[in-house]
Amino acid sequence: MEKKKVLVLPGDGIGVDVCNAALPIFDVLALPIELSFGDIGWSCWENEGTPIPVRTWDQISKSDAVLLGAITSKGKDEAEKALPKELQNKNWQYVSPVIQLRQQLGLFANIRPAHYINGDREPFDLCVIRENTEGLYAGFDFKGIPENLDNFLTHPNIGVYGPKEVAWSVRLQTKHGLSRLFKKAFIYAEDHGLKRVTFADKPNVMRESGKFAKDIFFDIASNYPDITADIHNVDAVALWLVKKPHEFGVIVAENMFGDILSDLVAGVMGGLGVAPSANIGSDIAYFEPVHGSAPKMAGKGKANPCALFMSIALMLDYLGYPDHASRLEVAVKHVIKSRVALSYDFGGDATTVEVAKAIIDAYRNQTEGRTVAILTIGDELLSGKSINTNLSDLSQIAEHKGYSVVRQIVCSDSVGDIEQTISKLAGDVDYLVLSGGLGPTSDDRTRFAVAEVAKESLVFNDCSWRHIESRLTNFNVAVDESNRVQAMFPETAAILSNPIGTANGFSLNIYGTKVLVLPGPPAEAKYLLDKYLAEIVNASNSTNSYKWSIMGVSEGEVGTFFETTLKKYDLKLHYLWKYPYVQVEAILPKGHTVADSTLRTIRKEFGKLLISESGEKASEIVSRQNLGINWESNSESISKNISKELSAITSNKNINTTIHFEIYPSLSELLNNKIFTGDCWLVCHDDNGNKDSISFPCRGSEIQVFIKEYLCNFVLRLSESNIKDAVC
Ligand code: NAI
Ligand code: MG
Repeated sequence: MEKKKVLVLPGDGIGVDVCNAALPIFDVLALPIELSFGDIGWSCWENEGTPIPVRTWDQISKSDAVLLGAITSKGKDEAEKALPKELQNKNWQYVSPVIQLRQQLGLFANIRPAHYINGDREPFDLCVIRENTEGLYAGFDFKGIPENLDNFLTHPNIGVYGPKEVAWSVRLQTKHGLSRLFKKAFIYAEDHGLKRVTFADKPNVMRESGKFAKDIFFDIASNYPDITADIHNVDAVALWLVKKPHEFGVIVAENMFGDILSDLVAGVMGGLGVAPSANIGSDIAYFEPVHGSAPKMAGKGKANPCALFMSIALMLDYLGYPDHASRLEVAVKHVIKSRVALSYDFGGDATTVEVAKAIIDAYRNQTEGRTVAILTIGDELLSGKSINTNLSDLSQIAEHKGYSVVRQIVCSDSVGDIEQTISKLAGDVDYLVLSGGLGPTSDDRTRFAVAEVAKESLVFNDCSWRHIESRLTNFNVAVDESNRVQAMFPETAAILSNPIGTANGFSLNIYGTKVLVLPGPPAEAKYLLDKYLAEIVNASNSTNSYKWSIMGVSEGEVGTFFETTLKKYDLKLHYLWKYPYVQVEAILPKGHTVADSTLRTIRKEFGKLLISESGEKASEIVSRQNLGINWESNSESISKNISKELSAITSNKNINTTIHFEIYPSLSELLNNKIFTGDCWLVCHDDNGNKDSISFPCRGSEIQVFIKEYLCNFVLRLSESNIKDAVC
């Protein structure tokens, strides 16, 4: 396959910092994209008298897309001074490279999408499309009114200081420029599922150019009858963008109005640190963060790389990789929402590289272990009247299919609660599984909440209604009008047919998350999830995991040791505390391993307290090995109980060893006198003179579990079948 050629122009200032941090994402994307690098910006101007050298134009002409970091631009005088002596006074003009690129490459549309990321507000998904080549920035910008125009350009203020003390700019609008802009806006809306295109202008003040543009706008809109087209004053649009961004789809505007609105939406989205942009219009397109080079921050590792990642996502979409693009967006949003690594502008102290690494990890986790959140709905679950088996059953099904379940949530039947929870999770996980609230009664509100968040209306589905009628009739249940609601689904939903219950489920996409809505009855929910949640192919091969079960060491100590010892590895650590064990799991990307020397360090640290490297408990391993063991203990009844439990694990046939064990103080003293503080001792030996002892904190009756597990551990070390550590 021919590779797509992407030219990276880091530019200067923080442009270089964010590019260095973010570009490793291309190794993980593993797409047929070839990166090459070129020079642009202030240092080219300083050294060569042009911010875009000829060689860079040459590289651009051979590329499919350009990824730009940021470029410093300075005023006329400063630019002149920055030139080397031999290039000064030649009347060389510094023309912003960004403007040069847009004009010379014919990139007439500047695309600035803005998505909801986090915070307690209604999610939004909109895009400002700004005209790039004409309008007030067309270059008709003059000082002084020439004599031949002074009859034409009249204004009472001009006469005060005379026509020389005047500057004036022309807003150029051409039929060509506006037509291609509006067409682009409607096509963008169609491609991205946005249902409204708003033209932000000022037709009541700029009456001629406003009417001219308005007529062209509605003429083009008539070709897109499914998309609402409207015109509003740009100032009102600015107000509503802040108040109700969720009401907009595409906002299209001429150059200057669009320039202002697009920075406004960058702010609404969360600031310059996250806002991306694309410039399109010809065979080539360029993508860049909205922010500039922030020279004061350059080289300090403070810049937020999220905007560049978002710009890379736009570029991936443009190059024909929409799935990779939306996954990368989800990764950026995940890092921000879950506060994994936040740069200073989001209130954190993570460096540029740390944020970039967290995004790359989040991207990798999605592709190599896709994420699921489970949301169970119902007042009866919250009150505890019904046991919430769905939460664990549905999680198990998802995990079994290779997903990682990252959230389990219970919420009430209130539409508001359900909506808020869906909004928070949508865009953050790959799958959101909902169960409950699809019944016919007034407390079954799930479908209404989902439709509300998806901004879709509910439509009646005949086929589902026939299924409901026939099922109720078969079971001799009267068909009631209230059942009709169970045949209502959001417009774009796919119906998940439910042969074992009345209510069909449904699925739809909300902000990049696939939402599966299932009925509450456990058998139906499990059946539908099993059927409709696609299995991840080769899930178990996609990561490499190591496990350790350690007993008798506090979770804190274990955690500190593992964090330090495994610091240099690119992995995720999970801890599970199940007395008397801390189970540790390290998950590495496919193909990555932990060095043997590190594994030895771990074994040495925990010695006989490292029970297994498989996640199993000692009692589980002993039970599996079916060893013939005779257990003997001091005469007390409680240790007899332990002996009984141990005998159940081991075999009483083919006995080949007897293990004697004693506990101090005696168990009856410990338990009957309720001595729950201090340490107790376990001493054990076999008939061959192998012996062992351990002291451990007394935690009431729970110590019986400790004793059982430790004795099993002793047996394992005797048989040397598990840990090759010396028997003491
Ligand atoms: P700027 O966007 O570089 O910085 C404005 C302020 O926003 C910074 O001081 C910083 O506090 C914050 N900021 C910007 N990007 C950030 C990030 N990634 N993470 C965290 N905080 C961030 O705009 P300014 O200061 O007006 O311009 C600086 C230089 O950049 C100028 O020379 C300007 O001409 C150029 N510029 C270039 C652009 C481009 O390359 N397309 C766009 C805008 C400005
Ligand atoms: Mg701007």
